[in-house]
Amino acid sequence: MRLHVADHPLITHKLTVLRDQRTSSPVFRQLTEELVTLLAYEATRNVRVSPIEIQTPVTTTMGVKISEPRPLVVPILRAGLGMLEGMVKLIPTAEVGFLGMVRNEETLEPSTYAERLPDDLSDRQCFVLDPMLATGGSLGAAIEFLFARGAQDVTAICLLGAPEGVAAIEKQVDGRDVTLVLGAMDERLNEKGYIVPGLGDAGDRLYGTV
Ligand code: URA
Repeated sequence: MRLHVADHPLITHKLTVLRDQRTSSPVFRQLTEELVTLLAYEATRNVRVSPIEIQTPVTTTMGVKISEPRPLVVPILRAGLGMLEGMVKLIPTAEVGFLGMVRNEETLEPSTYAERLPDDLSDRQCFVLDPMLATGGSLGAAIEFLFARGAQDVTAICLLGAPEGVAAIEKQVDGRDVTLVLGAMDERLNEKGYIVPGLGDAGDRLYGTV
């Protein structure tokens, strides 16, 4: 597994405003979009491209275009939806699929309650959007789901991660091609499973249900 934690003052600045409890939902949404676009730049470093010949006004030259099958962007509902605009702004030709994950309160295991994805993900590069990598339960389940459909590799973009969640994903992926791109690695999880210092419940802060 590859882990990339952003190290850029603009990202840290935007994350600081995002963490601040006084930040309103409209500003939170706008900043989330901007942060995802910045993180997506790093996350797409290994996106597959094919050579293409084009004609400039001056001469013929070789360039590249994003390969087929096109990358698939998968926001995990609900909070991952707030990251979608920022991602497709950078890579507008990507296809978009949706995964809804919920934790079973008896078994504590995550399960899929909604899914809108191509049946066959063979040769697909998948980009999962999930703002908070806390225990790693739902992200891990989403990664398993995509590999079970044949995905070639999976890159997850998260605004914040906890060491516990990163360790859980690392243990689970076991040699498969997974990259984690985080805006920041926070200290820990608290007893309620919230990331510390974190930003609270990302879904609530995005959609104003606090
Ligand atoms: N999900 C959130 O929205 N926030 C956390 O801190 C942990 C999980």
